[in-house]
Formats: sequence, structure tokens, C-alpha cells
Amino acid sequence: MESKIKDMRAQVAEAIARVGSKEELDTFWQQFLSKKGRVQELMKSLGGVAPEERPAMGKLINEFKAQVTAAYEEAAARIAQAELARRNASEQIDITLPAKTREEGALHPITLTKNQMISVFAGMGFQIFEGPEIEDDDHNFTRLNVAKNHPARDMQDTFYITEDILLRTQTSPGQIRVMDAQKPPIKVLVPGRVFRSDSDATHSPQFHQMEGLVVDRHITLCDLQGMLDEFVKKLFGEDAKTRLRPSYFPFTEPSVEVDVSCFECGGHGCGLCKGTGWIEILGGGIVHRKVLENCGIDPNEYSGLAFGIGIERVAMLKYGINNIGLFYENDLRFLRQFKD
Ligand code: DAH
Repeated sequence: MESKIKDMRAQVAEAIARVGSKEELDTFWQQFLSKKGRVQELMKSLGGVAPEERPAMGKLINEFKAQVTAAYEEAAARIAQAELARRNASEQIDITLPAKTREEGALHPITLTKNQMISVFAGMGFQIFEGPEIEDDDHNFTRLNVAKNHPARDMQDTFYITEDILLRTQTSPGQIRVMDAQKPPIKVLVPGRVFRSDSDATHSPQFHQMEGLVVDRHITLCDLQGMLDEFVKKLFGEDAKTRLRPSYFPFTEPSVEVDVSCFECGGHGCGLCKGTGWIEILGGGIVHRKVLENCGIDPNEYSGLAFGIGIERVAMLKYGINNIGLFYENDLRFLRQFKD
């Protein structure tokens, strides 16, 4: 028995040394350690051993079995380690490869301009209000002091949906909605999309305006000019100045058109300002008494200022764009130029 064990020990040592894979390890186990394996055979052969020698032989076989099992486990650990190393090597990530780039989007120039305008006015304490794009005649015209047969209706080519419902031609109806909902002091901005049946290099049937409305005691044209001075400095540079010219709007009295000193030539006269040194940027004025009355605000107690700015116009001036259509074509070659 002892010599049998000795022979087998040599065979085990040889076999385990050759084990290099999971499959070979399984074969080794089948061969030596399974129920039909050779260690088990040794156990069975104990039957033929003289009874007095059995305990000692049994012990020897058990020790041998423990050694074979230990050798098996060692090999199993070695193979698992090798397998891990192989996987690590094959799944290694090459961090020197260039990353896959994904194109980043950017805000539309109209949005950029609108956001900048809002942030300037928000800094002066204005709040934002947004009205509906589909309006009724009452808010868009009548209560803004433009009665049904008023000639000022011809100033704006309106898209009517029914006789009374229309696409708003201006953000000014936002003034009415705000004054209906809120009593003075009021200080709001109404940004939004407006619609007119008009189309050429500087007009589009759909464009954007930013309305401003301040109603409180003792509001004057000086307040309007002060706010707009601040606005043009922030938008066009510290040297920009404003100039008010008398104008006419039905909902303001007096009404003004506001020019900014030409930021291209500094006021000397150039192509952009058509030699005048000034560029018109918005309309405004002191809110007409009738408009305040139409909203239940006493014009003897309160006064207001209002202004309306074309956002496209500001963006065209800021970025040097000469055709309004470019804003709506979604041509990526155009849009990519506004990535900050
Ligand atoms: N709503 C006018 C327009 O679309 C612009 C405007 C002028 C708005 C004077 C005002 C204002 O609030 O006071 O042409």
C-alpha cells in the first residue's frame, strides 16, 4: 500500500504540473479525486489489508487525499489567476485613443439677444410676463386706444383668424393683460413672438419683440430715457448714447422713437447708420391716459412709460446681419457662428 501511494504521489505531481487550463483541471479531478477516481480506489483496496493494519493505512490514505486535494486547489487558484490576467489584458482600454466627439448645440442668436436684453432689464428690477400669441382684437387694438376704424390699424398688416381673433401684431397687448391682473407699481417686460403680413430683407411675417411697461406715481419721459441709456450702454458699449425723436403711437402720448448713436462709426456717419450717426432701435412713450383708464388705473394718480423693441433688429445690429431671413432658415453655417 505504501509503495502504491508513493507511485501515485509521483503521478499526481506530474499530472498537476501539466494542468494548464480549466478543462485539464477537471480531468485531473475526475482522474484522482472523483468517486470513481484513483484515491477512492485506494480507499476501496483497504478491504484487502490485514485488519490490524487498516487504521494506519486508512490514515495514510486520508493524508494522501488531503495532499492531492491541496495540490488540486493550488492549481485551481493558479488557473483562475491566469484567466484573470488574460481577461485584463484583452479588455484593456487604450486611453490614448482620441475620444469620439459629439457636436455641441448652441443657443439661437435671437435667444442669445433676448436673454441678454432680459438680463439687462432684470437688473433694473423688471419682471417677465408672457401673453398669448393668439390674441383678441380687444387686447391687441381696442383697449390700446386703437378703435375699429382707427387709421393706426393700417400701420400693422394683421393676420386675422376670425373677425375678432388674430395673431398678435405686437407685444403691447401684454401691457393690458398685466394691468388687468396687477395694480401699480408695475415694472414688467413682455418678450414674445409677433406676426405681420410683411416680408422683405428687414421684415419677416414672424418676428420677436420685447415690450416694457412701468406704471407708478410720477413716471416721466426722463425715466424712460434713463432706462434706455443704461440699456444701450450694456448692449452696444459704454460710449453708446440715446436720442429721442417725437413720433406717434396710439397708446402713448407723447410718443418717441429712440435712436442709438452708431456704434460702428461712433456717430461720424457710415454705411450702417446711412451717414446720420444714429440708428433707430425702438418706439416708446408715456402711456396714454385712455389706456390706463381702460385698465381701471386712475391717470390722475398714476402715470406710466412703455417701450417696444424689435429683438431681430437688435440682433442684426449687434451681429452685423443684413438679412432677417437668415434667422429662420436654420442654416448650420449661419447658426454655428454664434457659438460662444
Ligand atoms: N407696439 C409698437 C410696434 O409694434 C412698438 C411700441 C411703441 C411699443 C411704443 C410700445 C410703445 O410700448 O410705447 O410698433
